[in-house]
Amino acid sequence: LDAEAIERGKASSTTCVACHQADGSGMNIPGGESWPRLAGLDRDYIVAQLKAFKDGSRNNASMLAFANMLNDEQMVDVASYYASLPVKANTPPAVDEAVLSHGEKLATHGDWSRYIVACTTCHGVGNQGNGSVFPALAGQHPGYIAQQIKAWQDGTRKNDPQELMATIAKRMDENDIAAVSAWLAAQ
Ligand code: HEM
Ligand code: HEM
Repeated sequence: LDAEAIERGKASSTTCVACHQADGSGMNIPGGESWPRLAGLDRDYIVAQLKAFKDGSRNNASMLAFANMLNDEQMVDVASYYASLPVKANTPPAVDEAVLSHGEKLATHGDWSRYIVACTTCHGVGNQGNGSVFPALAGQHPGYIAQQIKAWQDGTRKNDPQELMATIAKRMDENDIAAVSAWLAAQ
């Protein structure tokens, strides 16, 4: 990460703090639209998402407006800034042990009877992310994780390479989504 890019990105992030917070930790909004944690995400992953909001392959009204305000260079700057921030511990949701263990099973082993591939296969060891293609899921907000899986199910997010996430999302039911989101958020 380039120190000057981080400085420039910090200056332009003032328009993002209303939702993503000054420390980039975002916010879980149960029953509403959660704001993802951006702190510590991969720079090039963030840039790819901003471009996806701009070109509509990822459909979100708030983010369309903010991505539209950034040119390519400003995207790299603001992404450098968020990538440089430390990840803060999340507040895990209070859910039953049985729900958590179902979530853990899906995340670490998958469910081959339904062709649900374990999240760690792609999202990296401990679901901490793997390069610029596979974002970290560990410690992300549960509301946001669930929101994204549903967005792939209903087709409002269609920017994933090779439809990797769309395919898996469509094999998951409501219980799976709640369980895997809760478990991942607590990691
Ligand atoms: C998602 C960046 C401003 C609300 C995202 C994501 C990025 C991002 C990179 C995707 C994260 C991921 O895929 O893990 C930014 C930047 C901003 C900004 C750089 C300032 C220029 C805002 C503001 C709001 C907002 C002000 C609220 C009005 C959201 C929401 C999502 C999101 C709701 C999730 C969208 C979805 O469900 O697909 N933002 N954001 N953002 N942001 Fe922002
Ligand atoms: C992105 C969940 C398994 C490939 C994501 C995101 C979530 C998610 C919530 C969005 C993160 C964000 O916006 O910050 C899961 C869960 C899984 C799983 C719960 C296990 C049940 C997999 C597997 C693959 C994969 C097995 C590969 C075959 C991807 C890719 C993206 C992604 C490529 C980024 C898409 C993009 O660029 O927009 N996943 N995932 N995921 N996932 Fe998964």
